[in-house]
Amino acid sequence: MKALVLAGGSGTRLRPITHTSAKQLVPVANKPVLFYGLEAIRGAGITDVGIIVGETAAEIENAVGDGSQFGITVTYIRQEAPLGLAHAVLIARDFLAGEPFVMYLGDNMIIGGISGLVEEFRHTTSDALILLTKVDNPSAFGVAELGADGRIIRLVEKPADPPSDLALVGVYMFGLAIHEAVRSIKPSGRGELEITEAIQWLVDGGYDVAPHLVEGYWKDTGRLDDMLETNRHILESIEPAIHGTVDEHSTIVGRVVIEEGASLVRSTVRGPAIIGRGTRLVDTYVGPFTSIYHSCVVERTEIEYSIVLERATIRGIGRIEDSLIGRDAEVVPSSALPKAHRLMIGDHSRVSVATS
Ligand code: G1P
Repeated sequence: MKALVLAGGSGTRLRPITHTSAKQLVPVANKPVLFYGLEAIRGAGITDVGIIVGETAAEIENAVGDGSQFGITVTYIRQEAPLGLAHAVLIARDFLAGEPFVMYLGDNMIIGGISGLVEEFRHTTSDALILLTKVDNPSAFGVAELGADGRIIRLVEKPADPPSDLALVGVYMFGLAIHEAVRSIKPSGRGELEITEAIQWLVDGGYDVAPHLVEGYWKDTGRLDDMLETNRHILESIEPAIHGTVDEHSTIVGRVVIEEGASLVRSTVRGPAIIGRGTRLVDTYVGPFTSIYHSCVVERTEIEYSIVLERATIRGIGRIEDSLIGRDAEVVPSSALPKAHRLMIGDHSRVSVATS
């Protein structure tokens, strides 16, 4: 069995962060989302992994390398444009070479791994196994309609009027029939070859497509709220560890990781939280569900329920919540007159300033 991981796409819902970097590399609890997926694949005993890359290929390749850090062997497959998930299967045909495979969307997080599912698929004669979970906003996903016998009747991609609240999770298991399916469908309204339609083609053709309800935690991290929520979830179970330095005026409360070379000066970190390698906190309060990545500086600030990416500087800003702060970003007070907000904000940014 092989794995096909999708790490292309343009990440429009996480702009501006994804103007300059791959959405699959945004860290959750200081580890790129994609790495959780690769670990889950390895955990299921799969070591031959193809990664579909697009315009952020260099960045993905730089982070994942040959895969040896995960105990896998990686083959990169270039997708010239984001032409859809089924298109990814189409171009990966030579790599997949007649073996069943797991397809894993690189921005999806499944907590608890996929070993059980892969094992289940190894022992069935099904042509595909799809994962479904109940969601509040099915219109944002592929949606399945099941019959009274629990079998799949219909799958629809992002329906305006969803037939159920069962969304397709971004992990799929396929046998060989999927190759004919992806060759047979036509591009959708959004110009993509949809995997949902390829699976519907299997259902229509009488192939055996088995649904599996995911009970555990799953999130597509494509949007800010989901990203913060996933971060909260992962932080809740991190193993506390203090590798950096904490001065005598600083306090650490609860489940907290302080990575190597990080330093706390007159600061409080109330977990669950993680402070990255080489990051410096001075006169700062870091509240629950916050991940601060490596090489940041945070001074005279309170920050909670947020993710801060590498090398950001935050200084003298009252309180920050529910925020994602990008790489090398600077958030500082201005002392110059006239007294005003001075902003240089990337395209598609969202800034909400508390005025009083
Ligand atoms: C894709 C699939 C959709 C699935 C979702 C899961 O959507 O097309 O069926 O529910 O992943 O994350 P996309 O994220 O490409 O919009």
